[in-house]
Amino acid sequence: METVTTYTLDQFLADTRATIETKGIPAGLAEIRDHLERLLRNPDLLKKHLGDSVPYTERTTIGRDPETDVHVLVHGREKAGKSSVHDHGPCWVVYGNYKNPTRMRRWRRLDDGSRPGYAELTLQREFLNEPGRAVAFAAGDIHSIEYGDDTFFVRVTGGDVETKETLRFDVEKKTVEIANRARGQR
Ligand SMILES: [Fe+2]
Repeated sequence: METVTTYTLDQFLADTRATIETKGIPAGLAEIRDHLERLLRNPDLLKKHLGDSVPYTERTTIGRDPETDVHVLVHGREKAGKSSVHDHGPCWVVYGNYKNPTRMRRWRRLDDGSRPGYAELTLQREFLNEPGRAVAFAAGDIHSIEYGDDTFFVRVTGGDVETKETLRFDVEKKTVEIANRARGQR
């Protein structure tokens, strides 16, 4: 009989701590992405941390390592939606799909940031992040997401991004402003 080993949230946090200690950030981000892809293969992850009848959730923190201040959050979206174009302030973020894919767009800033409120962005890469796959963003990286109904994703952040000052951009209007994450902007 084949032995099935399930990679748990605690193992993920321990492995991520080890990666940060040995490789640092941003060098360790690719390895943390690999750890997250392993965690995404755990078929019971959401049941264990959200309950048997897995509820949709705007945002639920399911784990935190006090030593590294790494946070693990689950977002379960009942209806299709999209985010603004944004950064994560001083935080790095690794983003993994658990159920259904997310269209991921990476943006590059062209101006030097010297003109207040002005930002010029160009689309750098667009792809579908499929369930089981994760993608890493270093501090300062800019992205946006778009998803369909019934999409669950796991977000791992270095620090609590929801309490940080982050930027949101309007690509058409070429504007940038500080997001108020407390009001649900991101
Ligand atoms: Fe983001």
